[in-house]
Amino acid sequence: MTRILAIESSCDETAVAITEDGKLLCNVVSSQVDVHAKYGGVMPEIASRLHAENIDVCLKEALETSSLKFEDMDAIAVTRGPGLIGCLHVGLQAAKTIAMLYNKPLIPVHHLAGHIYANEYAGEFKFPMLCVVVSGGNTELVIMRDHLNFEIIGETKDDAVGECYDKVARVLGFPYPGGLPIDRASKLGQHTYDLPMPLSHEDSYDFSYSGLKTSVINLANTLKMKGEELRPNDLAKSFQDVAIGMIVEKATKAARAYDVKQVILAGGVSANSYLRECMKNRLENTGIDLIIPPLWCTTDNAAMIAKVAERLYKEGVFADLSLGVDPNWKIDEYRKF
Ligand code: KG4
Repeated sequence: MTRILAIESSCDETAVAITEDGKLLCNVVSSQVDVHAKYGGVMPEIASRLHAENIDVCLKEALETSSLKFEDMDAIAVTRGPGLIGCLHVGLQAAKTIAMLYNKPLIPVHHLAGHIYANEYAGEFKFPMLCVVVSGGNTELVIMRDHLNFEIIGETKDDAVGECYDKVARVLGFPYPGGLPIDRASKLGQHTYDLPMPLSHEDSYDFSYSGLKTSVINLANTLKMKGEELRPNDLAKSFQDVAIGMIVEKATKAARAYDVKQVILAGGVSANSYLRECMKNRLENTGIDLIIPPLWCTTDNAAMIAKVAERLYKEGVFADLSLGVDPNWKIDEYRKF
């Protein structure tokens, strides 16, 4: 029997989970989103401090819920990156302290590998597989030919799609985080504004979102200067069509080119209803399976970190106590730390 205690603190969720032979015993998530909403985005310094306040409470709750002690664990897993440096440090220091005090192996886990492996709670992986990783900090297409085998075939050249959603939401006067409000508003609007789809004619699988974001800001400013009305629902719909359209086009092309058996969606933006619907329609009758993650595992949590850690544990991928965080860790270098 293998028990893993996993810690996640890369952004604005402090989370602890415990698994036993793959079964999730507890999944504690303390979100700071209400605090950051006041500022219209995550304030890194505040986030780090709140992690430091919350981590003990989350650990205690995880142990109580599962009726276990630190002594009962086989390994301590922690998100080492990518993420906000101060936030990552809090989780890592907690993990190292437990590993040292209870003499347990320490497993460094890549945050995006976590988002990908969250899908194992929804279905079994089939390889080769295309992972559409879309979150507040990342936008990547990753090919997996086997477990723990990641090849990045495309990524954003500038902003992440979620970050773009959050900035556009601010322009539209929607609250933070902006993904869900835009998703909802777009259902009430029409595609009436013409916005550019960057890199759409390129052969590469790379993305770009800063041009789209700037176009929305310029459009809003121009309308304001002219004294014309901005229709938020129509702009939300026009924006969502382009932002998600870019992902759907590139992901469908990559799925065919790499002859994959399965496509999975991962990360916060995988909660988007239009992305889910478009990918379902595109892959229907193609023989390619689609895993759409349940909503609870689209946001940051430690259950997904534990899933990756189970596999790393079997392969003996452990770190010593000199381990540091890496805010820019690449997924294809997840064994380098
Ligand atoms: O995965 P996540 O917590 O961020 C990182 O770990 O980087 O994802 C948060 C992002 C936010 O930018 C939020 O606006 C976006 O996911 N999001 C959505 C939706 N729900 C959340 N974006 C589009 N549509 C949604 N329904």
